[in-house]
Amino acid sequence: MKKIVISTGGGDAPGLNAVIYAVVHACYKRGWEVYGSRSGYMGLLDVDELVRLGLDDVEDIYSTGGTIIGSTNKGDPFAMPVENLAGEMTVVDVSDKILHNFRRMRFDCHIAVGGDGSLEIARKFAEKGMPVIGVPKTIDNDLEATDRTFGFDTAVSTATEALDKLHSTAKSHDRVMVVEVMGRDSGWIALYSGISGGADVILIPEIPFDMEKVCEKIMDNALHEKHYAIIVVAEGAVAAGGKVISKGMGEVGRSELLLGGVGEWVASEIRARTGKDTRSLVLGHLQRGGSPTTFDRLLAMRFGAAAVRLIEEKKFGHMVALISPNMSAVPLEDAVKSRKKVDLNNDKVFTAREIGICLGD
Ligand code: F6P
Repeated sequence: MKKIVISTGGGDAPGLNAVIYAVVHACYKRGWEVYGSRSGYMGLLDVDELVRLGLDDVEDIYSTGGTIIGSTNKGDPFAMPVENLAGEMTVVDVSDKILHNFRRMRFDCHIAVGGDGSLEIARKFAEKGMPVIGVPKTIDNDLEATDRTFGFDTAVSTATEALDKLHSTAKSHDRVMVVEVMGRDSGWIALYSGISGGADVILIPEIPFDMEKVCEKIMDNALHEKHYAIIVVAEGAVAAGGKVISKGMGEVGRSELLLGGVGEWVASEIRARTGKDTRSLVLGHLQRGGSPTTFDRLLAMRFGAAAVRLIEEKKFGHMVALISPNMSAVPLEDAVKSRKKVDLNNDKVFTAREIGICLGD
């Protein structure tokens, strides 16, 4: 009999519960026990906080959003922020304590579900001797080692539905609507939803944009008696010529961005340059919420089942990956090496250009 612990780290993504469902079922079939670590890796700091997961606990959860065991963005056990006696913030390494608890509980493997940050932590634990299997997760779909991550399809569906709705209000008021979607480093959500949702302009981090081109497209619409426009902007999009306006580039802080990110900046430029009535909105965490689509449920369950198979094969230190059409195992160090950017020779980029969408260049 084996004892497995599962954690879900980083930002949530629709499909996390479907992974947990599949892991619990696949382990049950083998007569293994599963425990959930609350709030990512940090749940292992206090063994009393671990929750035993049986079939009853996971009944029907595959169709729900979020994660039944919680997640955290601030939980790096190798550098955990704490307040010292002087009231100052500092960091401590609690990884030894976590490894100690893992061994004390006699766990055979830790299934770590997470994005690049959590998988990097998984890699460090594997290096320290913990048997770990990684499961990739991010709505941004930007992990190079796997064809797809779950949560992406749901995020794209949510964004597309929002764009569909914005068309009628934009048209009624002859307005330009600028919609900022998630995608710090890559433009996958913007590209997929923008094409599917009939956008006029899609701006992604991979193609620095020229505001002149964006405005030309809007004015060109008017020549064809289309007096409104839908602009989709990935949160990591940047203007050409080195003007840094996006998250992750260091010029502005996160909270400022949440109040006024690249979408708002693009909207104000359009207003100033074209005189068009312009509005902007940030879809934000809506894209991470709700029930996973069929595609994401299936992918998440395949990842969960494949992770349990890897334990059987003793392929520790690996991450499950979709290398279509099958599930594969990728060493964790390769899994976290590089981000999957939108390749400009990608057919979706060609499609966007073919159907007259301006990509800002
Ligand atoms: O999951 C990745 C992501 O969706 C990014 O695109 C976004 O910048 C980030 O999460 C926001 O997450 P949070 O507000 O939870 O830190």
